[in-house]
Amino acid sequence: MKRFIATLLTVALALNASPQEKYGTEEAWADAQIARLKEKSPTAQERSQWFREARLGMFIHWNQSSVVAAEISWSKQFYDDDGEKLLHNPRPTLKHCKAQEHTDWISWFKPAVPKEIYDHLHKSFYPAMYNADSIVHTSMQAGVKYIVMVTKHHDGFCMWDSEYTDYDIMSTPFARDIVSEMADACHRHGMKFCIYYSQRDWHHPDYSSENLPRYNLYMRNQIKELLTKYAPVAGIFFDAHAWNKDPEVWESETLFKEIYAIAPDILINNRCGVPGDYYTPEQRVGSIDMETMWESCMTFTGEWSWRGFANEVIPVEKCFDYLINCAGGNGNLLLNIDPLPTGQIDPREKSRLKIMGEWLARNGEAIYGTQGGFLRPADWGVSTRKGKNLYLLVKDWNSFPALLPITGLKIKEITVGDKAIDFKAGKNGVELSVPESCRDRYVTVIKITTNRDLTDRELL
Ligand code: GLC
Repeated sequence: MKRFIATLLTVALALNASPQEKYGTEEAWADAQIARLKEKSPTAQERSQWFREARLGMFIHWNQSSVVAAEISWSKQFYDDDGEKLLHNPRPTLKHCKAQEHTDWISWFKPAVPKEIYDHLHKSFYPAMYNADSIVHTSMQAGVKYIVMVTKHHDGFCMWDSEYTDYDIMSTPFARDIVSEMADACHRHGMKFCIYYSQRDWHHPDYSSENLPRYNLYMRNQIKELLTKYAPVAGIFFDAHAWNKDPEVWESETLFKEIYAIAPDILINNRCGVPGDYYTPEQRVGSIDMETMWESCMTFTGEWSWRGFANEVIPVEKCFDYLINCAGGNGNLLLNIDPLPTGQIDPREKSRLKIMGEWLARNGEAIYGTQGGFLRPADWGVSTRKGKNLYLLVKDWNSFPALLPITGLKIKEITVGDKAIDFKAGKNGVELSVPESCRDRYVTVIKITTNRDLTDRELL
């Protein structure tokens, strides 16, 4: 009966109006307050499909802090009028830290840049080699499907030509709208363009004051400006912390509805006090989750912006680890690049991206458009699935199981690249061995073709 009524309703709606017309800002806001994908409206599920299929995005953390190779925003020090006492944004010391990752976090504040200097860094920002097309080209070669660019970080500096502040790119000697160039390049090459926007703003006088409503208005105006000037914008990565998990603080309902009125298909992350479309583990790969969309943002160096050539860049093996563990966990990897003050990608990062892209060109079938599982991520690697295919992405042969617990399925064939692999399928599982000559230097993809759709299989 229920199904009958639902069908009637659907027919009535279809006769009345197209789904787009019916899906207004109210519905979009209702969806933003629901975390689980299946509980959201069909429209919300549909418009986020590209994101689930993409699996790999590129984050860009960059602004004038690169001029002194200091961490974006966090390196800015606040002193009292005598220039002695740190104010407002006190830094933790080693003794406040209980875990290694927290001690790493401290390095974000180094080198500390006195506020008086930080606030003038933009006057020396002249990234003469910035070429948005070339960055987009590198990302395409790397197999990246969307770009998320920092438009305004916590320091409040705007990388675009904003009507609402002078603390923006037009006040640099460079005076070229960096965001506009990136948006255009993305649009030209069919790359999804998304923006990062920090609610935290250490430049705006109304931020974190009793005039917060006035700050919120500024923020909404800027967001509307970005969405209009650089349309289409596929997603917004908001960024706020601890005390500001409350949607009231950011007047999220008004904010979101204004966003949806301009960009009904936009995806928004979970840092505005509501679940939005996806959650955002930071500097760690999320755990497998088939219910709610997620995206892990990871860095090449442990820090967000460029910190000089003395800073180590992770080996490409680690990049593959991130990539497959995100896909195998049913999430996305948002891998951060931190351009140099010249506007170029660090060549060490570029070389890693190239290798990833070459691998993805061969093995993308096991990443794009897949779901994670149904075998849980393990030491040997991960699994992904699409239709009747199960993919095993093996990074460590030493821990590869002698018997894979794959049962209740008829296996048609198992291949690595174009080579068929011998296997034995029994009651308790599948035995297979991949000759060394077929193994990939980084991650080997084993494709198992079965007789059944694997979409709703329980995790093992
Ligand atoms: C944290 C940091 C910030 C970075 C962001 C990315 O919120 O404060 O510097 O931009 O993580 O997720």
